[in-house]
Amino acid sequence: MIDQIKKHREDFDSRVAQAADAEAVNRLRIEFLGKKGHLAQAMQSLRTVPAAEKPAAGKLVNELKQHVERLLGEKSQTFEVKSGKPRESFDTSLPGRREALGSLHPITQTLEEIEAIFHGLGFCVEEGPEIESDYYNFEALNIPKDHPARDMQDTFYIGEETVLRTHTSPVQIHVMERQEPPLRIIAPGRVYRCDSDVSHTPMFHQIEGLMVDEGVSFSHLKSVMNIFVHQVFGKNTSVRFRPSFFPFTCPSAEVDIQCVMCSGKGCRVCSQTGWLEILGAGMVDPAVFEAVGYDSDKWTGFAFGMGIERIAMLKYGINDIRLFFENDLRFLRQF
Ligand code: DAH
Repeated sequence: MIDQIKKHREDFDSRVAQAADAEAVNRLRIEFLGKKGHLAQAMQSLRTVPAAEKPAAGKLVNELKQHVERLLGEKSQTFEVKSGKPRESFDTSLPGRREALGSLHPITQTLEEIEAIFHGLGFCVEEGPEIESDYYNFEALNIPKDHPARDMQDTFYIGEETVLRTHTSPVQIHVMERQEPPLRIIAPGRVYRCDSDVSHTPMFHQIEGLMVDEGVSFSHLKSVMNIFVHQVFGKNTSVRFRPSFFPFTCPSAEVDIQCVMCSGKGCRVCSQTGWLEILGAGMVDPAVFEAVGYDSDKWTGFAFGMGIERIAMLKYGINDIRLFFENDLRFLRQF
């Protein structure tokens, strides 16, 4: 038995020295270490070895096994290095993997830009609830129950007297109820309307503005609107006021800017008019001041309201409002 193990060892040593490729090493591995290999058979034969010989024979078998494993390991490593495919290697000069950084949503970016402009004009940011009573969303804004102006907005009613706010204008009422003039506020937030197509989504964002003081006039409104438009769309962008109607302002206007796509020449986006509507505005109606207990002989004010998505769409040339809410990274990564 002992002689046979010694012979295996000599045989292995000469053959491992000659093994010329990974394939040959593998064959040797199977022949010596495989399930029916020489070493497994030697283990088997150990059982029949006389007791006196057993310890020495066992030791030899173990040594041979370790010897074969070590040499085969070394040999196969030299082939891996030669073939340029190290089993485990670590290139410390490679740059690390960075954590992917998110970025602000284009609506948030646009909102922050608008807020910064009005902040510079002395306006503070206010907020109000998204679930509103009929009173704040309509009544106090001079829109009585059966007034046709209620049809201007498709309302989500969640109760007889409770709605998802259809605009940010009710924040005007909340602020004036708790604060005396003079005041200058903007109120950004989500609003809801039962409407859905390329330019409408059931939820969107608005920003409301309100300034109340002694002697505030329409020309203050015009100059604030001009400053705003020039900062967002560039100082060569013309602004136009068109007479309009809102129950909570009188006189009321819609503010247009020169089309950002065709610079006013007329194109598909502006329906060949050269102008794009961006917001509604006007002088606060005395009925609104009455509802909050302001003296309308003493105070005057202007208000305006705009859709943030609309501003972002014009600013970035986006033609479908629904893109803002699909969370497609290919879209979001462009901002
Ligand atoms: N609340 C109006 C809307 O959602 C927008 C608006 C128009 C707000 C005129 C105003 C305003 O404050 O003066 O359509």
